[in-house]
Amino acid sequence: MYSSYDNSSLVKIISLLKSQKLEYLSGVDLSESLCLSRAAIWKQIKKLQSLGYKIDSKPKVGYKLLKKTKLLLPWEITDGLKTTLFGKNIYYFDTIDSTQDFALGISSRKQENGTVVISQKQTHGRGRLNRRWASPRGGIWLSLIIRPEFELSAITLFPIITALALAIAVEKVLKIKPEIKWPNDLTLADKKIAGILVDASLESNKIDYLVIGVGINFKIDPTEVERVIKRTVNYGVTTLVGTNNKTEPVKLVQAFLFELERFCDILLKNNTKYIIKEWTKRSSTIGQVITVSTSCGKIKGKAIRLDSDGALVISNKDKVERIFVGDVIDT
Ligand code: BTN
Repeated sequence: MYSSYDNSSLVKIISLLKSQKLEYLSGVDLSESLCLSRAAIWKQIKKLQSLGYKIDSKPKVGYKLLKKTKLLLPWEITDGLKTTLFGKNIYYFDTIDSTQDFALGISSRKQENGTVVISQKQTHGRGRLNRRWASPRGGIWLSLIIRPEFELSAITLFPIITALALAIAVEKVLKIKPEIKWPNDLTLADKKIAGILVDASLESNKIDYLVIGVGINFKIDPTEVERVIKRTVNYGVTTLVGTNNKTEPVKLVQAFLFELERFCDILLKNNTKYIIKEWTKRSSTIGQVITVSTSCGKIKGKAIRLDSDGALVISNKDKVERIFVGDVIDT
C-alpha cells in the first residue's frame, strides 16, 4: 500500500527525475540531495522500475526517466490535480477486496474528507443492490470519502452529480460522449462502461459522511467481465478505451475528481436546476418507454423527467410515479 502520507525517498527521486527531463541525473547528486547512500538510491530506482517507471541507468553518468508508470499511484494522481480537497489524500493498493469496504472502515476518522482509496484490482468488488462487481486490472476502481455540509434531503442527488461529473470528465479527456442510464450507469452504445455506488452514514438530519464508489471499465476485456457477472446482471459491458489507446487513466481520475468537486459546490449553492438540465442532456432514459424493476415490483411507463430531488418520474395511463431506487430492465 502507498499513501499520500509517504514522503519517502521514492517519491522524492521520481519528482527529481521528472524535473530533469532531458538530462541524466547523477547518482552522486541524487545521494547528496536526499542524504542517502548510492546503494540506497540504486535500491529505490529498482523499486521505481518495478512500479512501471522506465528509468535508464548509465554507469558513471546517472539516471534518466524515459517513461512514466501507468499505475494510479498517489503522487501521480496529485501531480497536476486541480482540486481543493478531493484526492489530496490517497490510499493506493495493488490488490484489495473492495476499495468501498476499506473506505468505509476508515471513514469514521473525521480527517478523512476528500480521501480517495484506489486499487489496480479488487477481489470482492461490490455493485449496487448487493451485486458482484468484476474488477480486473485495467479498470479504475476507486472510492471517495466526503463529509459534505448538506441536509439529508440532498443525499439522493449525490449519485446523480457523480454520474454527471464522470460523464463530463470522459467527454473532456477522451472526446467521446457517454450516456447516463438512470439512475447512474454510464454507457456507450447501450453497454455499461461505469457504475456508481453510494454508501452513507447519517446523523440526525445531516449527512455525516458519504463513500462514493466508482467503477470504470477503463481498459478491460468485456467478455471476461461479462463471464464473471452474467448470472447476476441484465446488461452488457464494454471497455471505455481499446488496447491501443494511449490515454493515461490518471488524466481521467484527475478530471473526474475536479468535476465532482465542482458539482458538489454547485449543489451546495442549491443550483439543482442546472444539475438536472446537464444530467437530462446526457440521459438515455428520459423520453423512453421503460420498465423499472423496484423492490415493490415492476413499473412500466414513459420516463418523463428527473425531479429536483433525483426521483425519476414515470407516467403510464394509470398514474404518475416517482422512483428513487431501481433498475431499468428494458427500454
Ligand atoms: C454498480 O453496480 O453499477 C456500481 C458499481 C460500483 C463499483 C465500485 S468499484 C470501486 C468501489 N469498490 C467497490 O467494491 N465497489 C465500488
